[in-house]
Amino acid sequence: MITEIVKIAHISDLHILGKLDRRQLGDLDRLLAHFNTAGFDHLVISGDISNSADPGDWRILRDKLESHGLFHWDKTTVIAGNHDLINLEEEMRFYNALNPLPMVRKKAFQRKLSAFCTFFHELITGDEQGNNAFPFVKIIKYPSVNIAFVALNTVHPWYPADNPLGARGFISSGQLRALSLESVLSSLRECFVIGLCHHAFKVYGTDSLIDQAFDWTMELKNREELLALMKTMHAKLVLHGHFHRFQSYTVDGITFINGGSFRYDPKRYSRMEIKESGSWTQNFFVIP
Ligand SMILES: [Fe+2]
Ligand SMILES: [Fe+2]
Repeated sequence: MITEIVKIAHISDLHILGKLDRRQLGDLDRLLAHFNTAGFDHLVISGDISNSADPGDWRILRDKLESHGLFHWDKTTVIAGNHDLINLEEEMRFYNALNPLPMVRKKAFQRKLSAFCTFFHELITGDEQGNNAFPFVKIIKYPSVNIAFVALNTVHPWYPADNPLGARGFISSGQLRALSLESVLSSLRECFVIGLCHHAFKVYGTDSLIDQAFDWTMELKNREELLALMKTMHAKLVLHGHFHRFQSYTVDGITFINGGSFRYDPKRYSRMEIKESGSWTQNFFVIP
């Protein structure tokens, strides 16, 4: 069947809490079944799959996607969130006990990121050489339009002073450089470009001093560099999570979509329809 419109579903922040959480796993089955019956072409999951950086939770998601026929490169894309890579309790315990050097911490973080990329290689690079996958570009050619997903890792290692909750984001200069190469930019020219990252561009502020402190620990430090890169790529949309709110907002002509949190609202998700002309619509949908 030739689809004139490409339909993309986006969920985020599952925060899976192990196999015993039957209610959540039932909710996940219901939502994935809905994606199939509603005829979506692609599913994006923008990080925080696990609540406590447990590969057992990644496996739960993989098994669920497999059982719904969605564990394929052209069907689903995943990226990591801070909760997939950083176990805060463990970080603090080891920091107090061993006071390791920043380089040691950085290496441990890289190993965890590699483990994530290897585990989900089918949904990331599609081959087994994917242990150092970020950034990655996935171009899927549909009959009516070529979609390019440009994925960045924004999760940043935990450091006691600079990143006390492990929730602050940063995009490495290596990733920004790699995506600014002319060869990459030219490969995107005929595509509808969608950026993917875990952290938000928007600084979620409130008037409360306590919340302001909270916001600082959750922010994407070099968000202006993300925006500049997305503009260079002529991205139309950037999908993210991290702040558990279903919301969209526009910055300099680029629409950012916060996929909210499956954990806190398992029936709500973001749906996008992209037409051959490059026009698109987005809304948040609640399954019956
Ligand atoms: Fe989260
Ligand atoms: Fe997060």
